[in-house]
Amino acid sequence: MAKQIEVSDLDAYYGSHKAIEGITMTIEPRSVTAFIGPSGCGKSTFLRTLNRMHEVIPGARVDGKILLEDQDLYGDDIDPVSVRRTVGMVFQRPNPFPTMSIFDNVAAGLRLNGRRSKSELEGIVESSLKDANLWNEVKDRLNKPGSGLSGGQQQRLCIARAIAVSPAVLLMDEPCSALDPISTLAIEDLISKLKNEYTIVIVTHNMQQAARVSDKTAFFNLAGQGQPGKLIEMDETSKIFTNPTQKATEDYITGRFG
Ligand SMILES: Nc1ncnc2c1ncn2[C@@H]1O[C@H](COP(=O)(O)OP(=O)(O)O)[C@@H](O)[C@H]1O
Ligand SMILES: [Mg+2]
Repeated sequence: MAKQIEVSDLDAYYGSHKAIEGITMTIEPRSVTAFIGPSGCGKSTFLRTLNRMHEVIPGARVDGKILLEDQDLYGDDIDPVSVRRTVGMVFQRPNPFPTMSIFDNVAAGLRLNGRRSKSELEGIVESSLKDANLWNEVKDRLNKPGSGLSGGQQQRLCIARAIAVSPAVLLMDEPCSALDPISTLAIEDLISKLKNEYTIVIVTHNMQQAARVSDKTAFFNLAGQGQPGKLIEMDETSKIFTNPTQKATEDYITGRFG
């Protein structure tokens, strides 16, 4: 079930380097939120704080608060592993487990989460691949390696793997940047379909993509080299791309920098 994310005054550090500062925002369920901004402004860092992947880097930490519905993601009683199950992630480069079959790639998370009968696994693998718009292309070769698929198919396989464990939120960090235009459109179509069931956050450097797929857009920027990234403005995507409030947003979306 899709859940709302509420971020209050969040900072994230790598050792003593503050990468992002003072981020406050609400991310709505059953919608797509796009993060845009110049390279190095902390989009990926912020995304990784949303499922507690930031802290796996030695010396990395966060300050502030993130609520997933009513649950404090950084609460003392919260298991980061269960957070990562509820808040799934898809990366820039498709990263299927190279030695595993297509079927086993999708089933991997389910198997980690405990035993299931063969027929139950088969049912979830099929429905996940269908939801990822990949089933028809792979149903006759489920036992072949996932690494044999095209880049675009591999990325949809990774999306199938992420949704197989029934997450509430899907985070995607530039999921199309390694893909050709046709595969990119396939992923964008898929994102539009999945938003009915999930909370989706996508980092993209492609402004047209943000305009095409997202409901809300958040623009991040940094004041200078070595300065922390900040949220400059967040609004309806149509507003950000036609009539932003901040001059920096306008300069960025019209290609004056970044
Ligand atoms: N693993 C890391 N260790 C140390 N610093 C990092 C690491 N990852 C990112 N940073 C720094 O954090 C800042 C934000 O980076 P990042 O979140 O990757 O930005 P973006 O995704 O917007 O390009 C940059 O200054 C970057 O050098
Ligand atoms: Mg990044």
